[in-house]
Amino acid sequence: MQTIQLNNGVEMPVLGYGVFQVPPEEAERCVSDAFKAGYRMIDTAQAYGDMFGSWRAMKKAYRSGKVRAIGVSNFQACRFYDFASSVDIKPAVNQLQCCVLSQQRGIVAIPKSMHKERMATNFDIFDFSLTEADMKAIEPLNQKDTGFRDFADPNYLRRILGMFDLK
Ligand SMILES: NC(=O)c1ccc[n+]([C@@H]2O[C@H](COP(=O)([O-])OP(=O)(O)OC[C@H]3O[C@@H](n4cnc5c(N)ncnc54)[C@H](OP(=O)(O)O)[C@@H]3O)[C@@H](O)[C@H]2O)c1
Repeated sequence: MQTIQLNNGVEMPVLGYGVFQVPPEEAERCVSDAFKAGYRMIDTAQAYGDMFGSWRAMKKAYRSGKVRAIGVSNFQACRFYDFASSVDIKPAVNQLQCCVLSQQRGIVAIPKSMHKERMATNFDIFDFSLTEADMKAIEPLNQKDTGFRDFADPNYLRRILGMFDLK
């Protein structure tokens, strides 16, 4: 498995397993199945209302050796800079959406599936590569939606604050 080196020297696999929208009662079984299928990097999607509270919990897990690296998701450059310059353990990852509808190259993938067979299929992808012609065929699907949200947009802020009960 190809890896990328994080800022603390840890080698992270370029293919992991995502658990967003896996119901809590199924999460343990799914992650256990994913480990059996060979996955060694798990993306969780726990939504915390308080980023600094969340970061403190992750720091604790990092320092106790429960996790090998910690990171953030969907941070635009200026937010990432502000955050990274104010915390002692710097984020090792900034996860951003990337798919055929929002294309980039050389990224880490974290497919989600609740089915063992599909987890195995999604993990077994290193016996082929796409040709230039394949890439050209995929290119027009790009909708250039980065997944970034505009924190200056009052409607978006209202929605986010509502989600975390911070209104
Ligand atoms: N940072 C962020 O804001 C953010 C946003 C979105 C996602 N993520 C991360 O990225 C992960 C993946 O997200 P996603 O949006 O790509 O996944 P998704 O669309 O939420 O889930 C993948 C869907 O494809 C199905 N599927 C998976 N493998 C398949 C296969 N081999 N054949 C047929 N169907 C298959 C799954 O069904 P079954 O489960 O029934 O197999 C599921 O319905 C998430 O779990 C999360 O960890 C992060």
